[in-house]
Amino acid sequence: MPLITIHKNGETYEGEVQPNTNLVVRAGIRQFPYPHLSYGCGMGKCAKCMCKVVKGGEALPEPNWKEKKMLGTQLEQGYRLACQLWVEKDLELVQDSPASATDLSRSGAITTS
Ligand code: FES
Repeated sequence: MPLITIHKNGETYEGEVQPNTNLVVRAGIRQFPYPHLSYGCGMGKCAKCMCKVVKGGEALPEPNWKEKKMLGTQLEQGYRLACQLWVEKDLELVQDSPASATDLSRSGAITTS
């Protein structure tokens, strides 16, 4: 089973999940990575689930149009939207404070309506 490691606020959290797992869906039903993973819409529209991939990114699917629209150049820095990922292999992520989404908005990668 895939081992998920999440670094957040100086802490590290680990847990195994079933293959083909969406971490936001799991958190939504209060299974690990709940409560450590921040998320919002679950639909690729808010970027609250944005994480930087530390390890395992090569096993993830290519970014879809929602990730490209929301993350822009942040994709090249290894950021992904957890709600748009179905995890098949071990994955290590860093999730920054929610200020990151604000920073993205300021950079123009996110447009709010
Ligand atoms: S939870 Fe809103 S974009 Fe992922």
